[in-house]
Amino acid sequence: MQVLLQLGLSLVLLAPQYTTTAAAPSSQCQRQCGNVDIPYPFGIGVNCSLSKRFTINCTVQDGIHKPFRGDFEVLDISLTHATIRMLNYILGFCYNTSTRSMESVGRYGRRIQIRSGPSSPLRLSDARNKFTVIGCNALAFISDNDTGYQGLGVATCRDPLELVDGSCSGMGCSQTTIPNKIYNYEVGFSTFANTSRIWRFNRCSYAVLMEAAEFKFDVSYINTTKFNDTNAGRAPVVYDWAIRDVVRCDVARRNKTGTYACLSSNSKCVDSTNDQGYMCNCTHGYEGNPYLQDGCTDVNECNYNPCPSDGFCHNIIEEHWCSCRVGKRYVKQSNTCNPDTGFIIGVTMGLFGLMVFIVITIFWGQLIIQKRKLNKVKQEYFRQHGGLLLFDRMKSDKGLAFTVYSLAELIHATDNFDNSRILGKGGHGTVYKGIIKNMPIAVKRCALVDDRQKKEFGQEMLILSQINHKNIVKLLGCCLEVEVPILVYEFVPHGTLFELIHGKNHALQISFNTLLRIAHEAAEGLCFLHSYASPPIIHGDVKTSNILLDDNYMAKVSDFGASILAPSDKEQFVTMVQGTCGYLDPEYMQTCQLTEKSDVYSFGVILLEILTGQLPLKLKGSETQRSLSSIFLSAMKENNLDAVLVSHVKGEESMELLRGLADLAKKCLDMCGDNRPFMKEVADELNRLRKLSMHPWVRIDLEMDAESLLGGESTSGYEIELNGYPMGESENQPINPRSSYYAR
Ligand SMILES: *[C@@H]1O[C@H](CO)[C@@H](O)[C@H](O)[C@H]1NC(C)=O
Ligand SMILES: *[C@@H]1O[C@H](CO)[C@@H](O)[C@H](O)[C@H]1NC(C)=O
Ligand SMILES: *[C@@H]1O[C@H](CO)[C@@H](O)[C@H](O)[C@H]1NC(C)=O
Ligand SMILES: *[C@@H]1O[C@H](CO)[C@@H](O)[C@H](O)[C@H]1NC(C)=O
Ligand SMILES: *[C@@H]1O[C@H](CO)[C@@H](O)[C@H](O)[C@H]1NC(C)=O
Ligand SMILES: *[C@@H]1O[C@H](CO)[C@@H](O)[C@H](O)[C@H]1NC(C)=O
Ligand SMILES: *[C@@H]1O[C@H](CO)[C@@H](O)[C@H](O)[C@H]1NC(C)=O
Ligand SMILES: *[C@@H]1O[C@H](CO)[C@@H](O)[C@H](O)[C@H]1NC(C)=O
Ligand SMILES: *[C@@H]1O[C@H](CO)[C@@H](O)[C@H](O)[C@H]1NC(C)=O
Repeated sequence: MQVLLQLGLSLVLLAPQYTTTAAAPSSQCQRQCGNVDIPYPFGIGVNCSLSKRFTINCTVQDGIHKPFRGDFEVLDISLTHATIRMLNYILGFCYNTSTRSMESVGRYGRRIQIRSGPSSPLRLSDARNKFTVIGCNALAFISDNDTGYQGLGVATCRDPLELVDGSCSGMGCSQTTIPNKIYNYEVGFSTFANTSRIWRFNRCSYAVLMEAAEFKFDVSYINTTKFNDTNAGRAPVVYDWAIRDVVRCDVARRNKTGTYACLSSNSKCVDSTNDQGYMCNCTHGYEGNPYLQDGCTDVNECNYNPCPSDGFCHNIIEEHWCSCRVGKRYVKQSNTCNPDTGFIIGVTMGLFGLMVFIVITIFWGQLIIQKRKLNKVKQEYFRQHGGLLLFDRMKSDKGLAFTVYSLAELIHATDNFDNSRILGKGGHGTVYKGIIKNMPIAVKRCALVDDRQKKEFGQEMLILSQINHKNIVKLLGCCLEVEVPILVYEFVPHGTLFELIHGKNHALQISFNTLLRIAHEAAEGLCFLHSYASPPIIHGDVKTSNILLDDNYMAKVSDFGASILAPSDKEQFVTMVQGTCGYLDPEYMQTCQLTEKSDVYSFGVILLEILTGQLPLKLKGSETQRSLSSIFLSAMKENNLDAVLVSHVKGEESMELLRGLADLAKKCLDMCGDNRPFMKEVADELNRLRKLSMHPWVRIDLEMDAESLLGGESTSGYEIELNGYPMGESENQPINPRSSYYAR
């Protein structure tokens, strides 16, 4: 049979139900009571706490402010641990020698009953509290009527002398753990175990639920009435608090009607481990109050001196890092600053790297500046040579078969003007073979160095490019980015008329009629040049080495384009004699004026070369014997043509043909230009003379030519796949690179 003392007072800690409010607490709220901080969600007064359940009373006791929840004095409130510590009342049970009965001692008499309710934020901390009983014949109970929990604390002793300070394991003292989720409980003593027999050395027994860490058994507790009859004293007890109106964090986050309490950024929600509900916490690296807007602030880890004393601490968001003085290195494992052996090497390498960097930067900078300069120069030349004008024309005339090449393109096409690519070299400059888009081309790089500006160059190139005749080498384009423009021609593969006449092997193999045909074709080409534009385009450097031969040994007059590079003003004329020795119009020597008749004179010399097989100028001969034309003219005068004719021609060709040719040549070589025939007349005469030839194979040759002449001067329907170049070389070195220009 068990008899419990039924008397006692009920304590109602918290009663009414409130919903959480979203409103942030006013900054006016009192956050301290006495020495105790009252952080939100707790607060002094309703409007300063999360809800009424979190309110604290700050009352004055003995002249000092003390925080209270109900009858229980609050010691401290922790946000990080979500605990609140309060002073609990110790229950005493003593033998009164005068009344000879057992009496309960303490504020609440024989039995302490604490009732809150499941809606209370507080739960007894099962981890930190223990039900502690002291006595030599004590039996105390703790029970929770709501959950049916019942616990007992028993302390006995035979001889008080056996007791040891600090030891609480049943001898004079016992500690019992409690389960979690406890909010109501009551404590009382069993009347069976009374101290009526042992009151001489142990008059009182004590029982209290208290913070285990705060208790240390002292033997004197047994034989002293520690307190008087109305007050057995108080001991701290720990409660876990949480927001209990929702079950867990996820529910709280989803609950639209409720208010989620974790307001601060960098805060997180933590499920309560002691019954339902949740708490808030600042995330790692932050500290402060997660229940307030922006309550969590970065932890300044440096305040805790985490770095070595001779190092430096640097606080950053969520973390910190340590550094050391120059020459020392921070070692994380030992948290010390050690001498840095790599430092010297590092510094050296760093300086070296910096130097390399600077050198490279300067190098590249120079390169870029030079490249910019070069581009500027290129653009300037392009502009000077009338490139812009040319571009305008090319834009408006889409069908124009003329290309403005970039210097880079030509460098690529000719292997950077490699010597192995040279086709010919002369006073005019050098001609290279190039390949562009699998098409062979002849690239003429003029040697002329002349600082004059030729504004019309582009325009003139355009006119020349439009000349489309089967007996004239086609000008494909030019490059204006250089000081002296580079000309690009079609490539003509089979050498020059010069080589045909004066070459070692050719003279015998090539028939006189073929030479005649070639001469006729060349005359047609020159005739076309003269008649193409007004004023006429004058070749200016007609000679056998400028008559190229294509696959079918058809004549192609070349090098007319270079004439454009010739000087145009009077002063320059004085020093720049035009043409090639031996071909030079004597009249031009006096007037310095090139005319179409100058070309006719030069062509007369070509006819002489064909007739005589001799070079136009013999450097070895005596003064009168040097010039082929003077030799020829004197022979004609003496009526001794045979003396100059090439030997294999004499017997084979009709005398009428040879005499006709000689007469034509003589007319062409007239000292007075006006007396010379026009190129048209020369061409017609050659055509007539060719028909005099009586050899059957010559006739075939003739028919072939007649056919090809059908397309003659038309500018369409005639296409050549292989292309040629406009310059030959010979023993007759040109005096200067000039060939012709428009007549003025
Ligand atoms: C609390 O706030 C409400 C409205 O926000 C107000 O009506 C009430 O008077 C306040 N109570 C106290 C004690 O300040
Ligand atoms: C605060 O004191 C008042 C008046 O004494 C009382 O009604 C209320 O319950 C107390 N509240 C708390 C939390 O102790
Ligand atoms: C809050 O975080 C701190 C540090 O991470 C931790 O020690 C503490 O237990 C946490 N509190 C809660 C209620 O989870
Ligand atoms: C014993 O009881 C009497 C009568 O109630 C009281 O006056 C006295 O103070 C008590 N003695 C002790 C030591 O409690
Ligand atoms: C103490 O307990 C005994 C039985 O164990 C009982 O007989 C006695 O009356 C009790 N004394 C008091 C004062 O309650
Ligand atoms: C404990 O609970 C039982 C039954 O639920 C009830 O009879 C008894 O009165 C309760 N005791 C207290 C002190 O409330
Ligand atoms: C209580 O007991 C201790 C040791 O047994 C003794 O030293 C002390 O004097 C006693 N005190 C009283 C008041 O009896
Ligand atoms: C009992 O002790 C308390 C403090 O421990 C004291 O305030 C009170 O006056 C004492 N009462 C008596 C009757 O001695
Ligand atoms: C949502 O919150 C309100 C107010 O805090 C509470 O009454 C309700 O039970 C909550 N709902 C859920 C599903 O937890």
